[in-house]
Amino acid sequence: MNNNKNSIFNQIGGMPAVDAAVGIFYKKILADDRVNHFFKNVDMDEQSPKLKAFLAYAFGAPMAYTGKSMRQAHAHMRITDNHFQVVAMHLADTLKELQVPDELIQKVMYVAGSVKDQIVTQVRLAE
Ligand code: HEM
Repeated sequence: MNNNKNSIFNQIGGMPAVDAAVGIFYKKILADDRVNHFFKNVDMDEQSPKLKAFLAYAFGAPMAYTGKSMRQAHAHMRITDNHFQVVAMHLADTLKELQVPDELIQKVMYVAGSVKDQIVTQVRLAE
């Protein structure tokens, strides 16, 4: 973990920025019919602190994420590459809305990409 001043977490604006990002991000996800069915039965009040903690961790915040592994958390969902791209796009758009510089957004996308293999479990040979 990287908790120095140059971490993505600090550059984005610390926990207040993560809080703001999670709120906007969830709104986008829930408004998108391509992915909102995954979240239909999820209690957002319970879910968002977990996602916040994970994002903070992924951005290099000085704290530990103690939830399930990414593989465990998503194993039963049959998430495709396409679903993953849609969710990643909403995350990038969210950060853009918060006026995070493109260079940092690219770094966040890189971190997201690094957990993709643990989250995507459904291979689609044809659409
Ligand atoms: C970079 C990509 C992603 C990250 C960092 C991420 C992170 C997380 C985290 C931290 C949790 C909570 C795990 C726990 O219970 O402790 C979670 C749960 C969940 N994720 Fe993701 N996720 C990602 C991609 C996706 C995608 C692409 C989908 C669906 C299209 C998805 C659907 C869900 C759902 C529905 C839950 C709730 C599980 C439950 O509470 O039963 N995630 N995710």
